[in-house]
Amino acid sequence: MNDVIDDIKKNLDIVQYIGSFISLKKAGRNYKANCPFHHEKSASFVVSPERQIWHCFGACGDGGDIIKFAMKWGNCTFFEALKELAERAGISSDRLAPQDKGLDIKDRIAQINTLSAQYFEYILQKTPYGAKALEYLRGRGINDKIISTFQLGYSVDSWDSLLKFLKKKNFTEVEMVEAGVLVHNDQGRYYDRFRGRLMFPIRDLRGVVIGFSGRILDKGDQSAKYVNTPETALYHKRESLFGIQLAKESIRNENMAILVEGEFDMIMPFQHGISNIVSIKGSAVTKEQLQLIKRFTNNIALALDADSAGDEAIKRGIQEAEFMDFDIHVIQFQNGKDPDESVRTNTLEFKKSVAHPLPIYDFIFNSAQKKYSLDDAYGKKKIGEEVLPYISRIRNPIIQSHYIKKLSALLGVSEDSVLYTIRQERKKAKAKPFIHRSPSSEVNKTKDSIQELYVMSRIFQQENPYKTLDAFSKIIELKDMTQISYRKLIQSMLDYRANHALYDESEFTMSLPAELKAVYDELYLYPLDEVDIDDLQLQKDLYQLKMSLIKKQISELQESPNSSDQKDAELVRLTNARKVVEKTLISV
Ligand code: CTP
Ligand code: MN
Repeated sequence: MNDVIDDIKKNLDIVQYIGSFISLKKAGRNYKANCPFHHEKSASFVVSPERQIWHCFGACGDGGDIIKFAMKWGNCTFFEALKELAERAGISSDRLAPQDKGLDIKDRIAQINTLSAQYFEYILQKTPYGAKALEYLRGRGINDKIISTFQLGYSVDSWDSLLKFLKKKNFTEVEMVEAGVLVHNDQGRYYDRFRGRLMFPIRDLRGVVIGFSGRILDKGDQSAKYVNTPETALYHKRESLFGIQLAKESIRNENMAILVEGEFDMIMPFQHGISNIVSIKGSAVTKEQLQLIKRFTNNIALALDADSAGDEAIKRGIQEAEFMDFDIHVIQFQNGKDPDESVRTNTLEFKKSVAHPLPIYDFIFNSAQKKYSLDDAYGKKKIGEEVLPYISRIRNPIIQSHYIKKLSALLGVSEDSVLYTIRQERKKAKAKPFIHRSPSSEVNKTKDSIQELYVMSRIFQQENPYKTLDAFSKIIELKDMTQISYRKLIQSMLDYRANHALYDESEFTMSLPAELKAVYDELYLYPLDEVDIDDLQLQKDLYQLKMSLIKKQISELQESPNSSDQKDAELVRLTNARKVVEKTLISV
């Protein structure tokens, strides 16, 4: 397997490969682009031809080699990516397949799903067993073209109809269980998971059937309204969006994704020409679903069921989306409890509401005003309490200021008092963060560590870093650096220099342990405005870093509760050191 990977890397150039999907611009030794994995205005995605790696310094903070890129771009597994790359490199994929079970089972599941979808479709369209389901679909206004576009089907009300069919196609029970179409019960019996249900194939971005949703036909039926494929090697509920394979282009073109709850809520508007629409299959949108959408647009419009649960879901669902910098709207449809009903009752009205979605914060204002009266002080207080947490979290200052004005006007209070309350909210939110932020990217980096990152990148991006290393060692003490990995990297380079009069970049990186290599790659690719700066500027940068490192130590000491002579002496030493640096900074 490793020799295949080597061959792939030998035959494919990362700049050419990535350049075949997005346009890369030369920037010094590297290439830059807007990151294809999240929306951004400035180019923070960097590719290095020398090291054959890429890294995003923006919101995703991710990076790696050509395989990692292929996985992320294709939203696929390691082996799927290898397969794709091998094909491009003109390497026979036979060299990949037989050794790997992981690849096999996924392929087998995809085959089972494809065949099952065909089987369900056949039963619906061509056999008397499907007649009732077909009638049901027509009764709900679904036309024939849509039935085949979505490859809707019907599962016979039998324990082993699909089982027998797939057996004939040489699949084992174990594989069918792995695919999720078969259930293995405690008594050791196997039976079809989907029985007597209208079948919706669920597909991934590329159109591969990854699972199914099955809906009962009769209202009176005692069993669950929907039965879905469980988690399998192919189907991950959190990552799936019903309809994405049909909607993606139009989401990109319209620059907006409409999110609905149910399969019918996706299909019905789609049939009426609204094609930038996907179903999240339930009321809570997941982070993984948002990440998928982020590849096509920065705008989402929620069209969730019009009940109180829907209102709550809207509010809950937005936290993650806010954090991911989506612009969020709400589609306020009339004439029905869900988009399916609404579009059927009055298509034109529905389209109008789609064309004029309401910014989420206005929606929150409206729903608070519906609940409480503006006529008395307590009502106003309630409205304020309901709306403020949302306003306080708005990250864009222009948008936030707009809503602060709106709230102060609505409640008849000053903007200052709204601002004051927002600060209180922020304190509360700090004490108890409402979401966990992943520690990747610059979002979480402190000012100090960005300064360190900057200076370190300076050093490691030089053709000959020995000179910058010298300047660094004269001014900064390793122990003062806040990032341990940076200390280790500098130490590694000092050790390397002790034995090598001439610097050899690839030899040096080979000598690094894996975890340091990742840190090194990030520094190597960090987009500096200009790589070559004069010695004077470098000195300034170094002294500025030294200054903030000293300041940080001082404030840490001041904040520590215990007092001692030692602490006082250290404070005096640091304060003097700071004065010296201050003077130096003025003179350089
Ligand atoms: N759902 C589910 N399991 C259930 C109920 C619902 O997985 N027991 C998911 C389905 O994907 C469903 C969505 O949640 O489409 C929304 O549920 P609901 O509003 O009940 O479904 P609709 O498609 O609107 O059903 P219908 O209009 O046919 O009543
Ligand atoms: Mn419905």
